[in-house]
Amino acid sequence: MEKFIKELAPSILAADFNRLGKQIKEVSSTGTKYLHIDVMDGLFVPSISFGMPLIASIRKESSMFFDVHLMINEPARYLNDFAKAGADGITVHKEACADLKGTIYGIKKLGLKPSVSINPETPVQEIEDVLEMVHMVLVMSVHPGFGGQKFIGSTLEKVRLLKETRENNKFNYKIEIDGGVNKDNIAEIAESGVDVIVAGTAVFNGNITENINLLKEVL
Ligand code: DX5
Ligand code: ZN
Repeated sequence: MEKFIKELAPSILAADFNRLGKQIKEVSSTGTKYLHIDVMDGLFVPSISFGMPLIASIRKESSMFFDVHLMINEPARYLNDFAKAGADGITVHKEACADLKGTIYGIKKLGLKPSVSINPETPVQEIEDVLEMVHMVLVMSVHPGFGGQKFIGSTLEKVRLLKETRENNKFNYKIEIDGGVNKDNIAEIAESGVDVIVAGTAVFNGNITENINLLKEVL
């Protein structure tokens, strides 16, 4: 059985975009490997964030793993563009894809790591047929669309189920959780069996290095 090492994935949605390059360098200097990049289209979620040009720009100066979380309808339309911009992994929402399998194949074909995400109200059963194909399963622990929301505790049940399913079937996906993680709840979240923990506000609000070190203490 592969050993799963827990990683923190800071979400730049909460960064100060006026100092984005510098802040990413600071994140990287803490030894953090994942950078979580939230793309929103104003349709799948109410808000609009940023897209390919921003990713291409930060790609020039960062060798971190770009974990691109697409909160957009029918992401299959844009996979090529996100690959070109410099994504390493692309996460698509089950709720946003008419052809989830085809979309995941599309990501693989581009040489990138495919992941699937489910909203808080979507059960794990709805993605059962793609679990053997994905690099990660992203469990949303808030309703997608905004940073700084409250963690929905019941989503940890899905993490436990995904862990059990992985063991029973010898699957290899990582389990990622996203939304509302902070220094007070990260220990319990880590305990539930997640492998990659996204944190936006808890990383970028205040001193980045101190925040990351504090959050990583329990990983
Ligand atoms: C929410 C995004 C999250 C968000 C997390 O739609 O997918 O990645 O940036 O932000 P925090 O950690 O502040 O809840
Ligand atoms: Zn996200």
